[in-house]
Amino acid sequence: MTNNHKFVWNDSYSVKVPVLDEQHKKFFDIAKHISDLPDNRDYSSFRKSLILTIVELARYALNSLRYEEEFLIKHNCNECEEHCAFHDRFREKVKDLLKRACDEKEDIHKLSDEVSAFAENWITYHIAYVDKKCIDNMIIDKANNF
Ligand SMILES: [Fe+2]
Repeated sequence: MTNNHKFVWNDSYSVKVPVLDEQHKKFFDIAKHISDLPDNRDYSSFRKSLILTIVELARYALNSLRYEEEFLIKHNCNECEEHCAFHDRFREKVKDLLKRACDEKEDIHKLSDEVSAFAENWITYHIAYVDKKCIDNMIIDKANNF
């Protein structure tokens, strides 16, 4: 894939909370791994590489998304329930992708494109919009309560 710059974190993605920005940078790394999967490998190797990158997404959900949820709860975020529902949908999608990647009947190259589009969408919609909006609102709420 030639469009890898879209998987490079920059300050425009910052939620102004360094520890969360560090977590988000990890997601960009995973997304880049997915887009860098070489498509000239044999089918079986390609499937194994794709499965490993989907496992990275699952690990991200387990560690980083959970960390973000704990952060929102700790800081009494009003949108926490709605936000965690987004994360749950991410987890469900990753579970589905992993199941399909292990299915021999699945077209693994098409699935790889779907995984890449899913990761890109998570960056452009969730990280760049939903996370930022949620954390901005949390900071505004706190300021209004002083
Ligand atoms: Fe989030």
